[in-house]
Amino acid sequence: MILSKRYRILRRSPAIRSMVAETHLEPAQLIAPLFVTEGKDIREPILSMPGYFRLSVDELIKEAKELWGLGVKSVLLFAKIPDELKDNTGKEALNPEGLMQRAIRTLKHNLPELCVMTDVALDPYSTYGHDGIVENGEIVNDKTVEVLAQMSVSHAEAGADFVAPSDMMDGRIGAIRQALEQQGYHQTGIMAYSAKYASCLYGPFRDALDSAPGFGDKKTYQMDVANSREALKEVFQDIEEGADIVMVKPAVAYLDIIHAVKQQVLVPVSAYHVSGEYAMIKAAAQMGWLDEEKAILEILTSIRRAGADLIATYFAKQAAQLLQG
Ligand code: PBG
Repeated sequence: MILSKRYRILRRSPAIRSMVAETHLEPAQLIAPLFVTEGKDIREPILSMPGYFRLSVDELIKEAKELWGLGVKSVLLFAKIPDELKDNTGKEALNPEGLMQRAIRTLKHNLPELCVMTDVALDPYSTYGHDGIVENGEIVNDKTVEVLAQMSVSHAEAGADFVAPSDMMDGRIGAIRQALEQQGYHQTGIMAYSAKYASCLYGPFRDALDSAPGFGDKKTYQMDVANSREALKEVFQDIEEGADIVMVKPAVAYLDIIHAVKQQVLVPVSAYHVSGEYAMIKAAAQMGWLDEEKAILEILTSIRRAGADLIATYFAKQAAQLLQG
């Protein structure tokens, strides 16, 4: 045959393929979510997240140092709160000596250059396992937002570089930005979980924090899986209210949303490759049904290709190790 175009030319060797690759995955683009628990020397396995652990603050420091050494420069903290400290007001979330605040302070003390991001929502602190204050079976918006704003200030005070509100209440980004400004935290960033869907893929995470909703589900605040234009509404609103980074969550089942958001905004777009997405790969790999290492790199690259600048993923460390070669 005499052909004018042979597309296989650009796929012929690894050198050529890497030269023309459109998407690159780098450790600095990854955010490692980390679960903090009380105690010392604790690395508690999470059953539904094989290979992942709840860490006491001392172990958290070790883990963060290891991540830093691999080029992963951002962590996203979640605290597992003992049952006796949970209530319906989020009081413990504001405790300057609370687990989250201690974890932030110790991390920033040991690794001042690390970018420390913190989850802002009430579910780990709530007797109901909901992201907000519950009244008459409803998750009330405005009272919740007040607590979230104070919680953000408390994290900023402890040294957080970014707060990451994951609650999906209306108006919280504006309220948080205003509270940070009023208290003089002009350098604290907001990574907004802007398009967060009411997904079943958060199941393993709720095991990790023992934070499953005690009644009902989260569909009155998290987004309906059926919608995509609504994601843009949420993203535009959060940017208007002061978000520095917007996030889409989950990631792989929502690549269309990541793509749409990326085309519409000028701020960095983050995607959260969530616990259920992690568990699916781990489970299939344990069964010998797919190659875990190849799956990790393929899937994270796909999330980047869809338009995510940053990816929060439980594979951050493993991916960084694989990328080192
Ligand atoms: C809670 C929160 C959740 C996740 C991050 N923050 C769970 C939920 O909304 O129920 C999910 C993360 C994951 O599944 O990896 N505000």
